[in-house]
Amino acid sequence: MRTDPERPLQGRRLLVAASGSIAAVKTPLLVSALVKAGAEVRCLLTASAEKLVSASALACLSRHCCYLERDQWDPACSRPLHIELAEWAELVVVAPLSATSLGRWSQGIADGLLASTLLASEVPVLAAVAMNTAMWKHPAVQRNWDTLQTFPGVLPLAPGAGLLACDRIGDGRMVSPELIELAAASLFSRGMQHANAERDWLGRSLLVSAGPTVEPIDAARVLTNRSSGRMGVLLAQAARMRGADVVLVHGPLQVPDAWREGLHDLPVQTAAEMGELLIKYQPYADAVAMVAAVADLKRRDGGLSSKPAKNELNCLLSGGWEDVPDLLQQLVRQRPQVQRLLGFAALSGSEDVLLERGRIKLQAKGCDLLMVNPIDRPGQGFGDVRNGGWLLGDQLQLRLPAMSKLALAHHLLTALRESLPRMS
Ligand code: CTP
Repeated sequence: MRTDPERPLQGRRLLVAASGSIAAVKTPLLVSALVKAGAEVRCLLTASAEKLVSASALACLSRHCCYLERDQWDPACSRPLHIELAEWAELVVVAPLSATSLGRWSQGIADGLLASTLLASEVPVLAAVAMNTAMWKHPAVQRNWDTLQTFPGVLPLAPGAGLLACDRIGDGRMVSPELIELAAASLFSRGMQHANAERDWLGRSLLVSAGPTVEPIDAARVLTNRSSGRMGVLLAQAARMRGADVVLVHGPLQVPDAWREGLHDLPVQTAAEMGELLIKYQPYADAVAMVAAVADLKRRDGGLSSKPAKNELNCLLSGGWEDVPDLLQQLVRQRPQVQRLLGFAALSGSEDVLLERGRIKLQAKGCDLLMVNPIDRPGQGFGDVRNGGWLLGDQLQLRLPAMSKLALAHHLLTALRESLPRMS
């Protein structure tokens, strides 16, 4: 099958199942998004989910009939439906996964169409839980959830906090359809041939910086840059999908808010604020990825509280600036011995110039890996959806052709993961 790296879900066969939680009202939005992303989608509703969401809506949105529990032993089918569906799908998405369906699955009970399909499935399964906070916290549910984490090929998406339909504020909200779509795209971006849900970062922690910083000039004006934050946020989210515990420190972003769900999310404005948080969280991280485009200069006075008129601007801009300290160099200087650091270098010029300047920068920064990405090629780099270049390390010179930032994130995570010392 030909795969388009820009559209990792194009032509993929996805089975989307909803079980009995009110979050099932979001399943049609998920199905619609997956279909727009080019996936071939089949839907399945449990008997409880059928009371909450319309099977006809899912049939229309997926352009195919929606399977129901009572279809399991339809005499018109020559093979058991749960086997047909399990073998047809390249990825199963359970959204929402209710306490009951989690219980059946984790205990190996093949009671009903969804339960049987999950046990018969040999492909990765994305499991997005949703339920009331007290139910979620119940030891029986937590035990089942822990059991699920041990199943190979399962990517568990724990619920977030918020106002629940039962009027309670707490954990139990299903992650957003946008994040589930991103998780599915991430699984296919990793290998492109098959969905890959191996969680090789489990038990590891990653500290990521992303986006631009914003340095105040006066009450109205700022110094910033074109970074959208896409590369850093996707790196953070891809690491989280691979099991890492991720802290993301970022300037203002131009990416969907949903892409930050499930991360320890710390927004900042200035390089000084970013530096303070990075230094605070550095001791707990196995690896650090400095993806942020940190501003080069800041006002010595921290920015005026007034707004000079435009005829005074020339005078204001011609003096009073100082260099922003290099955060990456600072992190390298004070890193724990076992920590690995990845830097980025936005450069321009021919391949030879890139490599030469990249090597010099790798030495100067002192990080373990440096992703050298040209920003003067059309269709890649700052603000774009693609990126590529060279990954440099002490013994490493890896050419990474322009690809989606999600796919590149996975290449970088693989290299960074391989550079980490073994866990004792
Ligand atoms: N970086 C940093 N602190 C700064 C500037 C950059 O930590 N004050 C980090 C970036 O996050 C990136 C790496 O250093 O990981 C390289 O950034 P880049 O902008 O390419 O390099 P500069 O050091 O700013 O050098 P120049 O602009 O002169 O090429």
